[in-house]
Amino acid sequence: MAQALLKTVTEPVYPLRPAAKHKVLSVRGLGKAWTPQQRVLDEINFDLHAGELVAVIGRSGAGKSTLLHMLNGTIAASEGAIVNYRDGSEHQDVTRLSRGEMRQWRSECGMIFQDFCLVPRLDVLTNVLLGRLSQTSTLKSFFKIFADSDRARAIELLQWMNILPQALQRAENLSGGQMQRVAICRALMQQPNILLADEPVASLDPKNTRRIMAALQQVSEQGISVMVNLHSIELVHNWCTRVIGIQQGRIIYDGAPSGLTEALLQRLYGDEINQIDH
Ligand SMILES: Nc1ncnc2c1ncn2[C@@H]1O[C@H](COP(=O)(O)OP(=O)(O)OP(=O)(O)O)[C@@H](O)[C@H]1O
Ligand SMILES: [Mg+2]
Repeated sequence: MAQALLKTVTEPVYPLRPAAKHKVLSVRGLGKAWTPQQRVLDEINFDLHAGELVAVIGRSGAGKSTLLHMLNGTIAASEGAIVNYRDGSEHQDVTRLSRGEMRQWRSECGMIFQDFCLVPRLDVLTNVLLGRLSQTSTLKSFFKIFADSDRARAIELLQWMNILPQALQRAENLSGGQMQRVAICRALMQQPNILLADEPVASLDPKNTRRIMAALQQVSEQGISVMVNLHSIELVHNWCTRVIGIQQGRIIYDGAPSGLTEALLQRLYGDEINQIDH
């Protein structure tokens, strides 16, 4: 009994919903050109399903971050559609949302940015609660008035990520690994259906890398579709259920990590192949 209790304390489980495998997003003919001469993504087509942990790989400048930002609506698409699903049916095209609809979409599609985007002078708990912003009135969020249920969820998430002891510490005083964990909690505050993470383990040590990847895996196993930009093929093999490889703005591989052959990696990374873990 005591041992079982200890297990629940030391290995908290991400508190969410039961797992599911339905389609949550369909990307069709998506493209991005910064200028007519500078195309970064072309004819991108894929579906995302609940419960997947999908890696996006490709050399630096391939368009990985641009793709994630387009899904989240922070970068506008040049052409194509990003269709989200609700209750198993097509709901809306994310590329054509009004400002209000876009706020709602961002709460359904959480994002962890490469530089964490925490508010340095605010404490950890408030940073996590700010994840509720899109569902909190402007006035309430200005005065940082949050519902007790939100506080309870924020604390639950911080405990799950083993960072509750730092809850009242300013975000600026955290280590990189701790900041990343707080950023995950903040993104999960709104109970998104999709979680996007742009290089969430860049510059983390192996222990923190494992911690973050394990957290993302748990989140995906709870029925969220997780998409993550990675620079390590080893991590793709160890943690991901699927991998999308982008070369010169096009998808050249979409499938199981086990299907990533040396020839494919050569095509994906070219001369950079020796700079990645594989
Ligand atoms: N705001 C912008 N305006 C113009 N070009 C941009 C802008 N943002 C990115 N780019 C260009 O788009 C291309 C793709 O960039 P992106 O950041 O998506 O690559 P990435 O695959 O994420 O690379 P990395 O692995 O280095 O993070 C690059 O050539 C980049 O210079
Ligand atoms: Mg990037």
